[in-house]
Amino acid sequence: MAHQITLIPGDGIGPEVTDAAVEVINASGVDVDWDVQHAGKAVIDTDGSPMPGRVIESIRRNKVALKGPVTTPVGYGFRSVNVTLRTELDLYALLRPCRHYPGVRTRHPGTDLVVVRENTEDLYAGVEFEAFSVENQKLRDYLRFFRGYHLTPDTGITVKPISLSATRRIVRFAFEYSKREGRKKVTVGHKANIMKFSDGPFVQIAREIAQEFPEIDFDEMQLDELAFWLVSDPQEMDVLLLPNLYGDIISDLCAGLIGGLGVAPGVNLGDTAAVFEPTHGSAPDIAGKGLANPAGILLSGVMMLRHIGEHEAANRIESSIAAVFFSGEHLTGDLGGSAGTADFTRAVIARI
Ligand code: NAI
Repeated sequence: MAHQITLIPGDGIGPEVTDAAVEVINASGVDVDWDVQHAGKAVIDTDGSPMPGRVIESIRRNKVALKGPVTTPVGYGFRSVNVTLRTELDLYALLRPCRHYPGVRTRHPGTDLVVVRENTEDLYAGVEFEAFSVENQKLRDYLRFFRGYHLTPDTGITVKPISLSATRRIVRFAFEYSKREGRKKVTVGHKANIMKFSDGPFVQIAREIAQEFPEIDFDEMQLDELAFWLVSDPQEMDVLLLPNLYGDIISDLCAGLIGGLGVAPGVNLGDTAAVFEPTHGSAPDIAGKGLANPAGILLSGVMMLRHIGEHEAANRIESSIAAVFFSGEHLTGDLGGSAGTADFTRAVIARI
């Protein structure tokens, strides 16, 4: 029976790379019935929202989605489609494996680490108070009256909520994932010295749950130190456990360690749904030119096939991508080659 999977093409380079993923997965012989759902700025006029209910419903129904990137305007406009999706479906874990494949240029060959990012809280929760607004003034009055903090009226405020329950959930997820995948070490990144009531409990809970997993080493690092070690000696890192914002920044850094944003896959996971998507964004600078590297979404597709039990096809596609990287003949511009999206995709299909 065909797998029912929601496909969100996204915008910018999204449609180009999702087309490539569909071609490759179809060529592997896996039977998929793609439920195509458009989202983003382009559907606001027709659907009244960049993330219409029908998209969420489709994912709830199918439980699995493959998604291209969607543009979020900076500083104004609608709430990020990605944040909405993660919140509505309670996709609390963002898993981003960063493995270097031979043939992809990097200063750090042999890097093979995984970022586990909490996906629902932190400065991404959208609890914001605009400078000069009435709500902002009430909050500043409260802070002055009860805590003695003097914030000027031109101060915008974003709140960083980190709950014990969401932290326990992501920490447990990170350790269970590490155990299942045979990973050796979990390193938690934090700034608990400065943010005692948000990062503090995050580290404390990680310490406690680590004791239930004696077979996995546990380490904790201040985020700045972690950044230093990642660019110096990433081969020493295994699973990185991070709150939302640090996880976002560190994932892109880790993508840089293995060859760039074009090759980094990922998945947003909850208890009832999984949305697979590359780490990169909509890349407006190269959109529509056929230049985008589809490897990030293809490797996300490989993760997706494993998730739905299609291990053999997943292994074939991954080997084929690895072979194309290794040959160096069909690399896209971001990897130093001159091939386009279609050339890379054809080369992968030819080796499946
Ligand atoms: P970006 O990842 O789109 O681009 C950063 C740089 O990497 C650009 O130079 C781009 O050309 C290059 N790049 C990215 N993916 C590539 C690929 N597959 N092949 C070759 N080169 C690639 O990041 P940026 O510019 O910060 O974000 C653009 C938009 O995407 C923003 O609106 C942002 O909010 C959105 N975004 C969406 C995401 C999602 O839907 N999951 C994730 C990240 C960003």
